[in-house]
Amino acid sequence: MPITVKIQRFNPERDPQPRWEEYRVQADPADKILDVLHAIKWYQDGTLTMRRSCGHGVCGSDAMRINGVNRLACKVLVRDVGNRVVIEPLKGFPVVKDLVVDLDRFFAAYRAVKPYLITKTPDPPKERSQSLRERERFDDTTKCILCAACTTACPSFWANPDYIGPAAIVNAHRFIFDSRDEGAEERLAALNTHDGVWRCRTIFNCQDACPRGIEIPKAIAEVKQTLLRRTFRFSRPAKDIS
Ligand code: SF4
Ligand code: FES
Repeated sequence: MPITVKIQRFNPERDPQPRWEEYRVQADPADKILDVLHAIKWYQDGTLTMRRSCGHGVCGSDAMRINGVNRLACKVLVRDVGNRVVIEPLKGFPVVKDLVVDLDRFFAAYRAVKPYLITKTPDPPKERSQSLRERERFDDTTKCILCAACTTACPSFWANPDYIGPAAIVNAHRFIFDSRDEGAEERLAALNTHDGVWRCRTIFNCQDACPRGIEIPKAIAEVKQTLLRRTFRFSRPAKDIS
């Protein structure tokens, strides 16, 4: 079927502002939007720039706005969007070129929550074991592929680009609730700041945007509750705390 693809193009080194370009492509309803972008890049306009790697929803590199919604281009089929598609880069980060945005700030927020296992007690003779129930506690947030679709769909992030963003909170959650980890205090301190977890206004855009189906607002709420419980505990005399 013939489809029309309208793509926002922008080369900041050359263009005064972004512009739209339209392409006509012959596509199969079962083709991915990533296939359509490849058809444009390989056969019509080699200057079109986008990120992609795995092509199967694993690497998280091809998040972009497809008909106004953050999606992975490799996970959306032509039949899902019809014969007219509008494609833009993710919102809220500077455009490097066309559909590629500069993710330096996204990964700085990720690094700020120390997304790795922190241990302080001596290593046990064999391993730091964990029950199935303990592993289940943070299973959902292990699924993140760092695509940035959630953070760049968040109006709180658009209003304040210093907001640490849902993706960083999801990755903090993954370790805060890991029974083997001993770095929760450091992560919670990073989140309990002016631009930390309290910037979340529970708008739920992140939930809709996540290609992994992670329950992001639930994870954020659990982090907020943990912080509140700790604040409450420290602000009352010890005898009042059960
Ligand atoms: Fe992408 Fe979901 Fe991870 Fe956000 S939480 S970065 S939307 S995979
Ligand atoms: Fe890897 Fe789409 S190309 S997630």
